[in-house]
Parts: sequence; structure tokens; C-alpha cells
Amino acid sequence: MYFIFEPRGNMKKQIQNIAVMTSGGDAPGMNAAIRAVIRTAVYYKLDPYGIYRGYEGLIEGDIERFTARKVSNIINRGGTILKTARSQEFRTVEGRKKAYDQLIKNNIDALIVIGGDGSFTGAKIFAEEFDFPVIGIPGTIDNDIFGTDFTIGFDTASNTATEAIDKIRDTASSHNRLFFIEVMGRNAGFLALYSGIAGGAEEILIPEENIGIDKLVESLRRSKRAGKTSSIVVVAEGDQTGKNVFELAKYVENNLKEYESRVVIVGHIQRGGCPTTFDRVLASRLGVKAVEALLDGQRNIMVGLKNNSVQYTPLNDAIQFTRTINKEMLNISEILTT
Ligand code: F6P
Repeated sequence: MYFIFEPRGNMKKQIQNIAVMTSGGDAPGMNAAIRAVIRTAVYYKLDPYGIYRGYEGLIEGDIERFTARKVSNIINRGGTILKTARSQEFRTVEGRKKAYDQLIKNNIDALIVIGGDGSFTGAKIFAEEFDFPVIGIPGTIDNDIFGTDFTIGFDTASNTATEAIDKIRDTASSHNRLFFIEVMGRNAGFLALYSGIAGGAEEILIPEENIGIDKLVESLRRSKRAGKTSSIVVVAEGDQTGKNVFELAKYVENNLKEYESRVVIVGHIQRGGCPTTFDRVLASRLGVKAVEALLDGQRNIMVGLKNNSVQYTPLNDAIQFTRTINKEMLNISEILTT
């Protein structure tokens, strides 16, 4: 029996029924996290519930009692069996009140949200507004959450992007071409940086750094003169050139006549597929710890991995602070493209 939180009125309330949801963009490994939460709850004799379609489903009461068996054979599957959504209604007080009413109606005592910063922002506001215990598990391919070295899905997505780059390299070198490969990341360059380094890209453009388009042209020209016959530029969706990837390729082609260029957008392929071992293990660790954190009396925190140990970060910090790109990674990329 676990007495851990004091709702309004200071009456101690036992946590018995916990609900889990996935929210925002899906990420490979979310299913492994759902499985871990449900099974840990069963292990500790709690009653687990699944909420479908994130906050949208919560507002509509799309809630189901889960069992350990209901999450069989999902650890290896991409996507999320709970489905996901980006809810506009949850951004409003009225929407959040409906969500709260559904939790009360279903006797849910605590909520575990698997998602990224948008989902955590909603979770934090909701937790404060209704004094409701919430735990966050970082799940996004962007890896852009403060308080964890890795988010669930990033490893799989970066491997997918690297595989794409490897394949493009074959054809790029066969035709002596310049390829621009766009990977996801509207606000964060982790996917571009990791897959770019792993794929041996000549240049990596990320939202966090503005190398300048003319410097890019100059650098590609230098590579060409140094004997490279083909080149790969990995571009994060949110790069700072101010041009979309097609315009960028055109600009470079117009200013670097030596190369014929092509564009590839890896896109949502990065969001799908079997999670890697790393993502499955990360999801399992964080899922177990999220339930244990609730039982330890924690609330409004995110469980994350720091220096290979699971640690808590206040939800407020997780959304307020930005994870910065490691300068060492940028240097590595620059040195190795010599
Ligand atoms: O946040 C995850 C992410 O995959 C970003 O990398 C990308 O910019 C965005 O979601 C795409 O969102 P949507 O699936 O709504 O197009």
C-alpha cells in the first residue's frame, strides 16, 4: 500500500490506479516504454490504464484498463499501440478541466506521459492546475530534452538516417554528385549531427549553428579541390540557411558549377521501424523507474538517463532549459571531413 500524495485538503491519497499515454510525435521505443510501465504497475500490484491518442483521447475519456498480457509482443514494434496526437484543446483551461474530470471519473490517481517538450509543457501546466501527480518519460526522435542524455527513439531514428546516408553515398560516389540529405529536427540538430558524423558527411547544417551559405559553398569547393569526387551535406529541417533544402541545393549548384546535385528528404521514415536494442533498454529502464518514482512519492518530474544512471529532473526544468549541442561533436565532424 502506498500513501504518497496529498491532494487539496491535505487528505493523504493512496496511489492505486495509474494511467499512461503517448503524446506528440511518435518515436520507436514508445511501445517498450508502455510495456515497462504497465508491467511495473502490475508487479507492484497497482492497476494500470492506457489512454489512447494522448491528451486528445484523455479529454474524450478514451481510457482502457490494461493487463500485463495486453502489452505482450510489442517491445519490438515501432509506433505506439496507444496512438498519439498533438492536442489543441488541451492547450485551453477548458480542455484541461475536461481531462481532469475524465481522470477523476475513471479513478486515476497518477499519470505517466511519454513524449517530448510540448507534451511535458502540457503535463506541467496540468499538474500544477489540478494538483495531480504526473511523471514524464522523454520519448522523441529529436533528443532535445534537458535532463536526459538520450530520449527514447533517437538511437533508432539516427540509425535510420545513417542507413539512408550510406545508401546515398553509393550512388553519390558512382555519379560524382553532391547530395543534400534532409533529416528531421525543426529545432534540434542532434539527428543531423549524429547521422552526419556516422555517415561521414562533408557538411552538417543544424539549427543551433549558422555556418553561412557562402562558407558552405567555399568548403565544398575546397573538398573538391582536395580530391573529393562526391560530397554529402546533411541538413536538419530547421537549419539556419533561410532556404528550404531544394533552394539550398539550387543556390549551391549555381555557385559551384563543378557539381551536379540531388536532394533527398529522409522524412517520416525516421519515425518508424523496430526500435534498436539501445532504445528498448532505455525505454524499459525509464518505464520501470517512472512507476517506482511515483511510489517513492515523486511528482511532476521527468525520469531521464544521465551518465548511464536514471535520474529525476523537475518537469519545469525539462521544459525550461535547452539541451545544447556538444561543441566537441561539431569539432569532430570538422576534423574528420578534412
Ligand atoms: O518532434 C519530432 C518530429 O519528428 C520533428 O523532428 C519533426 O520536425 C516533427 O516531429 C514533424 O512533425 P509531424 O509528424 O507533425 O510532421
